[in-house]
Amino acid sequence: MRFAKTLTPVAVAVGALLAVAPFAAHADTVVKIGFAAPLTGPNASYGKDLENGVKMALDDAKAQGVKINGQPVTFQLVAEDDQADPRVGVQVAQKLVDEGVSVVVGHFNSGTTIPASELYEKANLPVIDPAATNPTISGRGYKNVFMVISSDAQNAGTAGAYAVTTTKAKRIAVIDDRTAFGQGEADEFVKAVKAHGGDIVDREYTTNQATDFKTQLTTIKSKNPDLIFVGALNPQAAGIMKQMAQLGIKAQYVGGGGVKDVDFIKLAGDVSEGAMAWEYGRPLDSTPVGSKFAERFKQKFGVDVLSYAPFGYDAAWTAIKAMQAANSTKPADYRAKLQTINFDGITGQIEFNANGSLKTGSSTVYQVKNGQWVTVKTVSGL
Ligand code: ALA
Repeated sequence: MRFAKTLTPVAVAVGALLAVAPFAAHADTVVKIGFAAPLTGPNASYGKDLENGVKMALDDAKAQGVKINGQPVTFQLVAEDDQADPRVGVQVAQKLVDEGVSVVVGHFNSGTTIPASELYEKANLPVIDPAATNPTISGRGYKNVFMVISSDAQNAGTAGAYAVTTTKAKRIAVIDDRTAFGQGEADEFVKAVKAHGGDIVDREYTTNQATDFKTQLTTIKSKNPDLIFVGALNPQAAGIMKQMAQLGIKAQYVGGGGVKDVDFIKLAGDVSEGAMAWEYGRPLDSTPVGSKFAERFKQKFGVDVLSYAPFGYDAAWTAIKAMQAANSTKPADYRAKLQTINFDGITGQIEFNANGSLKTGSSTVYQVKNGQWVTVKTVSGL
Protein backbone atom coordinates (compact mmCIF):
# COMPACT_ATOMS: atom_id res chain seq x y z
CA MET A 1 0.00 0.00 0.00
CA ARG A 2 2.87 2.33 0.86
CA PHE A 3 4.23 1.69 -2.61
CA ALA A 4 0.85 2.45 -4.24
CA LYS A 5 0.60 5.73 -2.41
CA THR A 6 3.83 6.91 -4.03
CA LEU A 7 2.48 6.49 -7.60
CA THR A 8 1.14 9.51 -9.45
CA PRO A 9 -2.09 9.13 -11.49
CA VAL A 10 0.03 9.31 -14.69
CA ALA A 11 2.28 6.49 -13.52
CA VAL A 12 -0.77 4.41 -12.67
CA ALA A 13 -2.18 5.01 -16.16
CA VAL A 14 1.14 4.11 -17.82
CA GLY A 15 1.39 1.03 -15.62
CA ALA A 16 -2.09 -0.03 -16.63
CA LEU A 17 -1.22 0.42 -20.29
CA LEU A 18 1.95 -1.60 -19.92
CA ALA A 19 -0.02 -4.31 -18.21
CA VAL A 20 -2.41 -4.67 -21.13
CA ALA A 21 0.13 -3.99 -23.88
CA PRO A 22 1.48 -7.56 -24.18
CA PHE A 23 -2.05 -8.85 -24.34
CA ALA A 24 -3.00 -6.35 -27.04
CA ALA A 25 0.08 -7.24 -29.07
CA HIS A 26 -0.87 -10.91 -29.02
CA ALA A 27 -4.61 -10.47 -29.26
CA ASP A 28 -4.82 -12.24 -32.63
CA THR A 29 -5.51 -15.92 -32.36
CA VAL A 30 -2.68 -17.85 -33.98
CA VAL A 31 -3.93 -20.47 -36.43
CA LYS A 32 -1.30 -22.97 -37.46
CA ILE A 33 -1.46 -23.99 -41.11
CA GLY A 34 0.50 -27.17 -41.70
CA PHE A 35 2.32 -27.70 -44.96
CA ALA A 36 4.34 -30.66 -46.19
CA ALA A 37 6.21 -31.20 -49.44
CA PRO A 38 9.72 -32.03 -50.62
CA LEU A 39 11.81 -29.00 -49.68
CA THR A 40 15.11 -30.77 -50.31
CA GLY A 41 16.16 -33.31 -52.94
CA PRO A 42 15.28 -33.59 -56.64
CA ASN A 43 11.64 -32.45 -56.17
CA ALA A 44 12.55 -29.43 -54.00
CA SER A 45 11.81 -26.85 -56.69
CA TYR A 46 8.24 -28.14 -56.91
CA GLY A 47 7.93 -28.07 -53.10
CA LYS A 48 9.27 -24.52 -52.85
CA ASP A 49 6.89 -23.36 -55.60
CA LEU A 50 3.98 -24.89 -53.73
CA GLU A 51 5.08 -23.42 -50.40
CA ASN A 52 5.32 -19.98 -51.97
CA GLY A 53 1.73 -20.36 -53.20
CA VAL A 54 0.58 -21.15 -49.65
CA LYS A 55 2.62 -18.25 -48.23
CA MET A 56 1.05 -15.88 -50.69
CA ALA A 57 -2.45 -16.97 -49.62
CA LEU A 58 -1.63 -16.48 -45.93
CA ASP A 59 -0.09 -13.06 -46.62
CA ASP A 60 -3.14 -12.06 -48.66
CA ALA A 61 -5.42 -13.21 -45.84
CA LYS A 62 -3.39 -11.06 -43.44
CA ALA A 63 -3.52 -8.06 -45.79
CA GLN A 64 -7.29 -8.47 -46.05
CA GLY A 65 -7.60 -8.61 -42.26
CA VAL A 66 -9.42 -11.93 -42.32
CA LYS A 67 -11.41 -12.54 -39.13
CA ILE A 68 -12.87 -15.76 -37.84
CA ASN A 69 -15.88 -15.56 -35.57
CA GLY A 70 -15.30 -11.79 -35.49
CA GLN A 71 -11.76 -12.23 -34.13
CA PRO A 72 -8.59 -11.18 -35.91
CA VAL A 73 -6.40 -14.19 -36.63
CA THR A 74 -2.75 -14.67 -37.56
CA PHE A 75 -2.08 -17.60 -39.83
CA GLN A 76 1.24 -19.24 -39.05
CA LEU A 77 2.79 -21.53 -41.62
CA VAL A 78 4.28 -24.71 -40.16
CA ALA A 79 6.25 -26.19 -43.06
CA GLU A 80 7.76 -29.67 -43.05
CA ASP A 81 10.10 -31.28 -45.56
CA ASP A 82 8.87 -34.77 -46.49
CA GLN A 83 11.76 -35.28 -48.94
CA ALA A 84 9.31 -36.94 -51.39
CA ASP A 85 9.83 -40.07 -49.31
CA PRO A 86 6.74 -41.98 -48.12
CA ARG A 87 8.37 -42.94 -44.80
CA VAL A 88 9.46 -39.37 -44.05
CA GLY A 89 6.01 -38.24 -45.24
CA VAL A 90 4.34 -40.24 -42.48
CA GLN A 91 6.82 -38.95 -39.88
CA VAL A 92 6.23 -35.30 -40.73
CA ALA A 93 2.47 -35.93 -40.88
CA GLN A 94 2.66 -37.17 -37.28
CA LYS A 95 4.69 -34.08 -36.37
CA LEU A 96 2.03 -31.80 -37.84
CA VAL A 97 -0.72 -33.65 -35.97
CA ASP A 98 1.28 -33.38 -32.71
CA GLU A 99 1.94 -29.68 -33.38
CA GLY A 100 -1.82 -29.09 -33.36
CA VAL A 101 -2.12 -27.53 -36.81
CA SER A 102 -5.68 -26.67 -37.91
CA VAL A 103 -5.23 -28.05 -41.42
CA VAL A 104 -2.55 -29.50 -43.65
CA VAL A 105 -1.94 -28.27 -47.17
CA GLY A 106 0.01 -31.07 -48.85
CA HIS A 107 1.70 -33.19 -49.71
CA PHE A 108 3.23 -32.90 -53.16
CA ASN A 109 3.87 -36.49 -54.27
CA SER A 110 1.15 -39.11 -54.46
CA GLY A 111 3.61 -41.52 -52.83
CA THR A 112 3.73 -39.41 -49.65
CA THR A 113 0.15 -38.13 -49.74
CA ILE A 114 -1.46 -41.58 -49.77
CA PRO A 115 0.10 -42.87 -46.51
CA ALA A 116 0.19 -39.43 -44.80
CA SER A 117 -3.51 -38.86 -45.44
CA GLU A 118 -4.33 -42.16 -43.69
CA LEU A 119 -2.78 -40.63 -40.60
CA TYR A 120 -4.64 -37.31 -41.01
CA GLU A 121 -7.90 -39.20 -41.45
CA LYS A 122 -7.35 -41.09 -38.19
CA ALA A 123 -6.49 -37.81 -36.44
CA ASN A 124 -9.60 -36.12 -37.92
CA LEU A 125 -7.39 -33.43 -39.38
CA PRO A 126 -8.42 -32.06 -42.80
CA VAL A 127 -5.79 -32.21 -45.53
CA ILE A 128 -6.15 -30.19 -48.72
CA ASP A 129 -4.13 -31.79 -51.49
CA PRO A 130 -2.80 -29.22 -53.97
CA ALA A 131 -0.62 -31.44 -56.15
CA ALA A 132 -0.78 -35.17 -55.65
CA THR A 133 -2.97 -36.66 -58.34
CA ASN A 134 -3.26 -40.42 -57.89
CA PRO A 135 -7.03 -41.23 -57.92
CA THR A 136 -6.61 -43.37 -54.77
CA ILE A 137 -6.26 -40.16 -52.74
CA SER A 138 -9.95 -39.31 -53.01
CA GLY A 139 -11.01 -42.87 -53.70
CA ARG A 140 -10.94 -44.27 -50.16
CA GLY A 141 -14.02 -42.57 -48.74
CA TYR A 142 -12.00 -40.45 -46.28
CA LYS A 143 -13.97 -37.52 -44.93
CA ASN A 144 -10.92 -35.32 -44.20
CA VAL A 145 -9.27 -35.49 -47.63
CA PHE A 146 -9.94 -32.87 -50.31
CA MET A 147 -8.20 -32.37 -53.66
CA VAL A 148 -8.09 -28.97 -55.38
CA ILE A 149 -6.41 -30.57 -58.39
CA SER A 150 -7.86 -32.99 -60.92
CA SER A 151 -6.80 -36.60 -60.55
CA ASP A 152 -4.84 -38.65 -63.07
CA ALA A 153 -7.97 -40.60 -63.93
CA GLN A 154 -8.89 -37.35 -65.65
CA ASN A 155 -5.46 -36.12 -66.78
CA ALA A 156 -3.78 -39.30 -67.99
CA GLY A 157 -7.15 -40.86 -68.82
CA THR A 158 -7.91 -38.02 -71.20
CA ALA A 159 -4.41 -38.31 -72.66
CA GLY A 160 -5.03 -42.00 -73.39
CA ALA A 161 -8.31 -41.29 -75.13
CA TYR A 162 -6.70 -38.42 -77.06
CA ALA A 163 -3.76 -40.59 -78.17
CA VAL A 164 -6.10 -43.09 -79.81
CA THR A 165 -8.93 -40.91 -81.09
CA THR A 166 -7.19 -37.64 -82.04
CA THR A 167 -3.47 -38.37 -82.44
CA LYS A 168 -4.45 -41.72 -83.96
CA ALA A 169 -1.38 -43.44 -82.55
CA LYS A 170 -1.32 -47.08 -83.61
CA ARG A 171 1.57 -48.44 -81.58
CA ILE A 172 1.83 -47.07 -78.05
CA ALA A 173 4.59 -47.75 -75.51
CA VAL A 174 4.66 -46.75 -71.85
CA ILE A 175 7.44 -46.18 -69.33
CA ASP A 176 6.93 -45.13 -65.70
CA ASP A 177 8.96 -44.59 -62.56
CA ARG A 178 6.99 -47.06 -60.40
CA THR A 179 6.00 -44.36 -57.92
CA ALA A 180 2.36 -43.93 -56.89
CA PHE A 181 2.26 -40.98 -59.28
CA GLY A 182 4.15 -42.33 -62.30
CA GLN A 183 2.70 -45.80 -62.21
CA GLY A 184 -0.72 -44.43 -61.32
CA GLU A 185 -0.87 -42.11 -64.30
CA ALA A 186 0.55 -44.77 -66.63
CA ASP A 187 -2.16 -47.18 -65.44
CA GLU A 188 -4.87 -44.59 -66.13
CA PHE A 189 -3.38 -43.86 -69.55
CA VAL A 190 -3.25 -47.57 -70.47
CA LYS A 191 -6.83 -48.11 -69.24
CA ALA A 192 -8.09 -45.31 -71.49
CA VAL A 193 -6.02 -46.46 -74.50
CA LYS A 194 -7.50 -49.96 -74.20
CA ALA A 195 -11.02 -48.63 -73.65
CA HIS A 196 -10.70 -46.78 -76.96
CA GLY A 197 -9.37 -49.82 -78.81
CA GLY A 198 -5.69 -48.74 -78.85
CA ASP A 199 -2.71 -51.05 -78.73
CA ILE A 200 0.02 -51.03 -76.04
CA VAL A 201 3.09 -52.58 -77.67
CA ASP A 202 5.41 -52.32 -74.66
CA ARG A 203 5.45 -51.28 -71.02
CA GLU A 204 8.72 -50.55 -69.26
CA TYR A 205 9.67 -49.43 -65.76
CA THR A 206 12.34 -47.25 -64.20
CA THR A 207 12.67 -45.59 -60.75
CA ASN A 208 12.42 -42.03 -59.47
CA GLN A 209 16.18 -42.10 -58.74
CA ALA A 210 17.32 -43.30 -62.19
CA THR A 211 19.29 -41.19 -64.65
CA ASP A 212 19.91 -43.76 -67.39
CA PHE A 213 16.94 -45.06 -69.34
CA LYS A 214 18.73 -46.43 -72.39
CA THR A 215 18.05 -50.12 -71.63
CA GLN A 216 14.28 -49.58 -71.46
CA LEU A 217 14.28 -47.14 -74.39
CA THR A 218 16.23 -49.60 -76.54
CA THR A 219 13.60 -52.26 -75.86
CA ILE A 220 10.87 -49.74 -76.62
CA LYS A 221 12.62 -48.74 -79.86
CA SER A 222 12.67 -52.37 -80.98
CA LYS A 223 8.85 -52.38 -80.83
CA ASN A 224 8.69 -49.45 -83.22
CA PRO A 225 6.09 -47.34 -81.37
CA ASP A 226 4.63 -44.12 -82.76
CA LEU A 227 3.86 -42.72 -79.30
CA ILE A 228 5.56 -43.13 -75.89
CA PHE A 229 3.76 -42.19 -72.68
CA VAL A 230 6.09 -41.25 -69.82
CA GLY A 231 4.83 -41.46 -66.24
CA ALA A 232 7.41 -39.57 -64.17
CA LEU A 233 8.28 -36.15 -62.74
CA ASN A 234 10.77 -33.71 -64.26
CA PRO A 235 14.11 -35.22 -63.26
CA GLN A 236 13.31 -38.56 -64.97
CA ALA A 237 10.84 -37.34 -67.61
CA ALA A 238 13.32 -34.82 -69.01
CA GLY A 239 16.08 -37.44 -69.05
CA ILE A 240 13.84 -39.83 -70.96
CA MET A 241 13.06 -37.18 -73.57
CA LYS A 242 16.75 -36.38 -73.95
CA GLN A 243 17.77 -40.04 -74.29
CA MET A 244 14.94 -40.73 -76.76
CA ALA A 245 16.56 -38.13 -79.04
CA GLN A 246 20.04 -39.60 -78.44
CA LEU A 247 18.77 -43.05 -79.46
CA GLY A 248 17.08 -41.64 -82.56
CA ILE A 249 13.57 -42.52 -81.36
CA LYS A 250 11.11 -40.52 -83.41
CA ALA A 251 7.93 -41.55 -81.55
CA GLN A 252 5.82 -38.75 -80.10
CA TYR A 253 6.60 -38.06 -76.43
CA VAL A 254 3.51 -37.73 -74.19
CA GLY A 255 3.78 -36.99 -70.47
CA GLY A 256 2.27 -35.11 -67.58
CA GLY A 257 3.01 -33.86 -64.08
CA GLY A 258 5.06 -30.78 -64.83
CA VAL A 259 6.86 -31.61 -68.06
CA LYS A 260 6.11 -28.23 -69.57
CA ASP A 261 7.80 -26.45 -66.64
CA VAL A 262 10.81 -24.27 -67.32
CA ASP A 263 13.08 -26.58 -65.34
CA PHE A 264 12.01 -29.53 -67.52
CA ILE A 265 13.28 -27.69 -70.55
CA LYS A 266 16.54 -26.94 -68.73
CA LEU A 267 16.95 -30.62 -67.83
CA ALA A 268 15.95 -31.97 -71.23
CA GLY A 269 18.28 -29.56 -73.02
CA ASP A 270 15.69 -29.23 -75.74
CA VAL A 271 12.11 -30.28 -76.20
CA SER A 272 11.24 -32.56 -79.06
CA GLU A 273 8.93 -31.10 -81.66
CA GLY A 274 5.39 -32.45 -81.40
CA ALA A 275 5.83 -33.64 -77.79
CA MET A 276 2.63 -33.45 -75.79
CA ALA A 277 1.84 -32.88 -72.14
CA TRP A 278 -1.40 -33.23 -70.25
CA GLU A 279 -1.32 -30.95 -67.26
CA TYR A 280 -3.64 -30.06 -64.42
CA GLY A 281 -6.10 -27.23 -64.51
CA ARG A 282 -6.36 -24.39 -66.97
CA PRO A 283 -3.38 -22.37 -68.23
CA LEU A 284 -2.54 -19.58 -65.78
CA ASP A 285 -2.56 -16.95 -68.50
CA SER A 286 -6.01 -17.97 -69.75
CA THR A 287 -7.82 -15.88 -67.11
CA PRO A 288 -7.27 -12.38 -65.70
CA VAL A 289 -7.00 -13.78 -62.13
CA GLY A 290 -4.38 -16.27 -63.30
CA SER A 291 -2.31 -13.64 -65.09
CA LYS A 292 -2.54 -11.33 -62.08
CA PHE A 293 -1.46 -14.18 -59.81
CA ALA A 294 1.58 -14.89 -62.01
CA GLU A 295 2.54 -11.22 -61.98
CA ARG A 296 2.15 -10.82 -58.19
CA PHE A 297 4.02 -14.08 -57.57
CA LYS A 298 6.99 -12.91 -59.64
CA GLN A 299 7.01 -9.58 -57.83
CA LYS A 300 6.85 -11.20 -54.40
CA PHE A 301 9.29 -14.08 -54.80
CA GLY A 302 11.45 -12.92 -57.71
CA VAL A 303 10.80 -16.13 -59.65
CA ASP A 304 8.09 -17.30 -62.03
CA VAL A 305 5.44 -19.80 -60.98
CA LEU A 306 6.96 -23.21 -61.67
CA SER A 307 3.73 -25.20 -61.80
CA TYR A 308 1.79 -26.01 -58.62
CA ALA A 309 1.89 -22.68 -56.70
CA PRO A 310 -1.64 -21.58 -57.74
CA PHE A 311 -3.02 -24.88 -56.41
CA GLY A 312 -1.20 -24.26 -53.11
CA TYR A 313 -2.79 -20.81 -53.01
CA ASP A 314 -6.29 -22.18 -53.67
CA ALA A 315 -5.81 -25.00 -51.15
CA ALA A 316 -4.90 -22.57 -48.36
CA TRP A 317 -7.89 -20.34 -49.18
CA THR A 318 -10.16 -23.39 -49.22
CA ALA A 319 -9.27 -24.01 -45.57
CA ILE A 320 -9.52 -20.33 -44.60
CA LYS A 321 -12.94 -19.95 -46.24
CA ALA A 322 -14.27 -23.08 -44.52
CA MET A 323 -13.02 -21.78 -41.16
CA GLN A 324 -14.70 -18.43 -41.81
CA ALA A 325 -17.96 -20.14 -42.76
CA ALA A 326 -17.87 -22.25 -39.58
CA ASN A 327 -16.73 -19.37 -37.34
CA SER A 328 -14.11 -21.75 -36.02
CA THR A 329 -10.61 -22.99 -36.73
CA LYS A 330 -11.25 -26.34 -35.08
CA PRO A 331 -11.31 -29.21 -37.58
CA ALA A 332 -14.34 -30.79 -35.92
CA ASP A 333 -16.28 -27.53 -36.43
CA TYR A 334 -15.19 -26.48 -39.91
CA ARG A 335 -14.70 -29.84 -41.69
CA ALA A 336 -18.33 -29.99 -42.79
CA LYS A 337 -17.95 -26.55 -44.40
CA LEU A 338 -15.21 -27.88 -46.67
CA GLN A 339 -17.84 -30.11 -48.17
CA THR A 340 -19.98 -27.11 -49.16
CA ILE A 341 -17.19 -24.74 -50.20
CA ASN A 342 -17.74 -23.05 -53.55
CA PHE A 343 -15.53 -20.28 -54.84
CA ASP A 344 -13.78 -19.17 -57.98
CA GLY A 345 -10.11 -19.87 -57.33
CA ILE A 346 -7.01 -19.05 -59.33
CA THR A 347 -7.06 -22.56 -60.80
CA GLY A 348 -10.83 -22.82 -61.38
CA GLN A 349 -14.02 -23.47 -59.44
CA ILE A 350 -13.31 -24.99 -56.04
CA GLU A 351 -16.25 -27.19 -55.15
CA PHE A 352 -16.07 -30.82 -54.04
CA ASN A 353 -17.84 -34.09 -54.72
CA ALA A 354 -18.84 -36.23 -51.75
CA ASN A 355 -15.45 -38.00 -51.96
CA GLY A 356 -13.49 -34.73 -51.74
CA SER A 357 -12.45 -34.58 -55.40
CA LEU A 358 -13.11 -31.49 -57.52
CA LYS A 359 -16.59 -31.29 -59.07
CA THR A 360 -15.27 -29.76 -62.25
CA GLY A 361 -11.58 -30.39 -62.41
CA SER A 362 -9.91 -29.57 -65.67
CA SER A 363 -6.78 -30.51 -67.54
CA THR A 364 -5.04 -28.96 -70.48
CA VAL A 365 -3.08 -30.40 -73.36
CA TYR A 366 0.09 -28.60 -74.42
CA GLN A 367 2.24 -29.40 -77.43
CA VAL A 368 5.72 -28.37 -78.51
CA LYS A 369 5.49 -26.28 -81.64
CA ASN A 370 8.57 -24.48 -83.00
CA GLY A 371 10.47 -25.43 -79.87
CA GLN A 372 7.91 -23.95 -77.43
CA TRP A 373 5.11 -25.47 -75.38
CA VAL A 374 1.82 -24.03 -76.65
CA THR A 375 -1.67 -24.59 -75.31
CA VAL A 376 -3.81 -26.89 -77.45
CA LYS A 377 -7.00 -27.20 -75.41
CA THR A 378 -8.51 -27.41 -71.94
CA VAL A 379 -10.99 -30.11 -71.02
CA SER A 380 -13.24 -29.54 -67.98
CA GLY A 381 -15.62 -31.46 -65.85
CA LEU A 382 -14.82 -35.06 -66.71
N1 ALA B 1 1.11 -34.94 -59.45
C1 ALA B 1 2.31 -35.43 -58.87
C2 ALA B 1 2.08 -36.57 -57.93
O1 ALA B 1 0.97 -36.98 -57.79
C3 ALA B 1 3.06 -34.36 -58.21
O2 ALA B 1 2.98 -37.10 -57.35
